[in-house]
Amino acid sequence: MNVCIIGTGYVGLVTGVCLAEIGNNVICVDKIKEKVDLLSNGKVPIYEPELDNFLQRNIKNDKLAFTTNISDAIKESDIIYICVGTPPLSNGQADLHYVEEVACEIGKYINDEKIIVNKSTVPIGSGDWVSMVISDSIEKNNKNKNVSFNVVSNPEFLREGSAISDTFFPDRIVIGSSSKKAIDKMLKLYEPIINQSFNWRDSERLIPKNTKIPVVISDLTSSEMIKYAANSFLATKISFINEIANICEKVGADVSKVAEGIGLDKRIGPAFLNAGIGWGGSCFPKDVSALSNIAGEYGLSTQILNAVVNVNREQRLKITQKIQNELKIIKGKTIGVLGISFKPDTDDTREAPSIKIMNDLVNLGARVKAYDPIVSAALGSLSKKVEICSSAYEAVRGADMFILATEWEEFLKLDYAKIKDMMRSPVLIDGRNYLDKNSLEKQGFKYIGIGR
Ligand code: UDX
Repeated sequence: MNVCIIGTGYVGLVTGVCLAEIGNNVICVDKIKEKVDLLSNGKVPIYEPELDNFLQRNIKNDKLAFTTNISDAIKESDIIYICVGTPPLSNGQADLHYVEEVACEIGKYINDEKIIVNKSTVPIGSGDWVSMVISDSIEKNNKNKNVSFNVVSNPEFLREGSAISDTFFPDRIVIGSSSKKAIDKMLKLYEPIINQSFNWRDSERLIPKNTKIPVVISDLTSSEMIKYAANSFLATKISFINEIANICEKVGADVSKVAEGIGLDKRIGPAFLNAGIGWGGSCFPKDVSALSNIAGEYGLSTQILNAVVNVNREQRLKITQKIQNELKIIKGKTIGVLGISFKPDTDDTREAPSIKIMNDLVNLGARVKAYDPIVSAALGSLSKKVEICSSAYEAVRGADMFILATEWEEFLKLDYAKIKDMMRSPVLIDGRNYLDKNSLEKQGFKYIGIGR
């Protein structure tokens, strides 16, 4: 099918590349020419494993192209994905003006029957609002009267760092629409993924070939709610285990063992029970606050979601308290930070716990040295206050202690005997309970974990 992706950010780019990979003709639109040129040359502006290979292959196979020309892209496509950002406003509500802009353009250039897919995470009820904006724009700007469209909600469940495999091997596909015709067209588009029949090295399939992926078909609003409820529940699970970790610290239990013990209960499941310095990223914070705001519009107070956010906020403050407990005086001390991104295998630092922790330490007068395998760009206001090092060893050299803030795999392979000799005092806070506590203690480190 001919597909148009509007917005080549994280979601749009991954969706476009994967739809091209399963045989569709995909044109991706962005209004930033430099970005379009970069992508057209097979360069990826974000760090996402494997994305560059898929991008280059599909450009070469003439299945994928990039343009700033939104009108032609809309006219030539059957299915149009809205993948522009919906960043949080200061009051926590989602900023929809990018979506509105695109919906107006679609109304202006639509030339026959189209399916409009809301891929961006939009507030509940937005599908109807997008329909209204497009219809108004057709009314105002479109001479061509025999046009028609249906809006479909098709939320994404991609995790940064595993976005491509999450697309090809999803737990489920969700399609929300009032139009059976639109739903049938979307089922056709996703058929290779639903039937797991796309080409892939069999040894690397995460799901056996020809397994049927569950598809949830619903109305628009329920589909939008599924996205918010999923992210909010995942964030809740993490804040729950972090609260348990805080109790474990007081009673002397090991939260990793507790997580193992409860996770074996099929009703709970082992995933997302890793206690640590809390969740960040561009989705959980935005989606949890947006859902809370939507509830607020109906006079509902979201007591659980509010608690989930509060526990998460306090979790990173606890790290600074642990450092103060250990070093007593922070001023003048040198503290190393290993990992800056909000999670491994990404360069995204949005709402990363490390940023808040480094800010607090700098404000308390510490000298902060940080290293991340991928994030080396200046960190806004922090860039002048934090020394970005070129290796983990540099970040811990002469340090009074170091914090592991992001569980990058390379931190498992460091020479900790060498690190111990390089530090002023061999003390570490393992913010992700990622390192081997017993081995490090045997090597003479003072190991401080979260709930361990
Ligand atoms: C999330 C959802 O997982 C994904 O389905 C949705 O589409 C987008 O938001 P993402 O934000 O990329 O994906 O990362 P994720 O792997 O979910 O981690 C989110 C945060 O939770 C990270 O800061 C991570 O460090 C933290 N986390 C995750 C924990 O603290 N403990 C865990 O057990 C798991």
